[in-house]
Amino acid sequence: MEFPTYRMRRLRRSETLRAMVRETTLDAADFIYPLFVVPGEGIRVEVTSMPGVFNISVDQLAGEIDELKALGVPAVILFGIPESKDEAGSGAYAEDGIVQRAIRAIKEHDPEFMVVTDVCMCEYTSHGHCGALDEHGCVLNDVTLELLAQTAVSHAEAGADMVAPSDMMDGRVAAIRTALDAEGYADVPIMAYSAKYASAYYGPFRDAADSAPAFGDRRAYQMDPANSDEAIREVSLDILEGADIVMVKPGLAYMDILRRVKDEFGYPTAVYNVSGEYAMVKAAAERGWIDEQRVVLETLTAFKRAGADLIITYHAKDAARWLAEG
Ligand code: PBG
Ligand code: ZN
Repeated sequence: MEFPTYRMRRLRRSETLRAMVRETTLDAADFIYPLFVVPGEGIRVEVTSMPGVFNISVDQLAGEIDELKALGVPAVILFGIPESKDEAGSGAYAEDGIVQRAIRAIKEHDPEFMVVTDVCMCEYTSHGHCGALDEHGCVLNDVTLELLAQTAVSHAEAGADMVAPSDMMDGRVAAIRTALDAEGYADVPIMAYSAKYASAYYGPFRDAADSAPAFGDRRAYQMDPANSDEAIREVSLDILEGADIVMVKPGLAYMDILRRVKDEFGYPTAVYNVSGEYAMVKAAAERGWIDEQRVVLETLTAFKRAGADLIITYHAKDAARWLAEG
């Protein structure tokens, strides 16, 4: 191929032309906004390590949903901080648990608004691990599957539109799919946290959700950051077990994984732009060291370019506002 007179600059000189040949577009309709719901009333407490992100009580949800809707953000993913935690994490699947009440409140306010729920045990267990433990403190995979399935069903019963297991136990997508189907929720899709890495970037989330493990870490069930082929195996298992959407998490340090997963499977693919990624941007922006708006929009666009269809991000409201302002 010859390009004797081709000059790349010709198409870059005007914004109109740049827009016409642009390969990727960012849209608020691709965003899912995480919400941390706490017990009590009238509560709105900023998370120390996540400026602009709040722990809110159930009564605050309606206002939150109205705000998101006005911005064109179509969905939330719910996390719950229960009144009390126990060994078995029973708050995760309680009929009147914090997430179950939050779902009902949102659906009562606006039945059309998309409610996704994070399905995991770590916000509910006293030890902070993502599943039940044996007497040596090791996670019991198959016992946990039962609890996760029960949790997912309780979310569907409360009105959740989609469930998102984030625990990384083996076989959980199949267990949840079977339970949902058996209970009459065959139409509730599963967005699986498929390639979820054991990452230091979850630090601020564990402040927000009060879910840091009391001992040890999550390396026995979450992925080794050094691995990429393993992500392909994880994603293929989840797809075989019935995942409707697969997820890569975190985002920034795992863009290569996102691209591989999209290329390999062509499945609807989500990325989680996690708490630590958000905190870094906020911290640098507060000091005036970066241009927050440009950095955020560049990063979110990069996720789409790398293969993400959906983006779970704490920047959703700001980004939607900036996109609307053009
Ligand atoms: C629960 C869960 C975590 C995140 C989402 N779901 C924490 C973890 O696995 O430790 C992290 C999200 C974030 O950092 O923003 N398993
Ligand atoms: Zn967990």
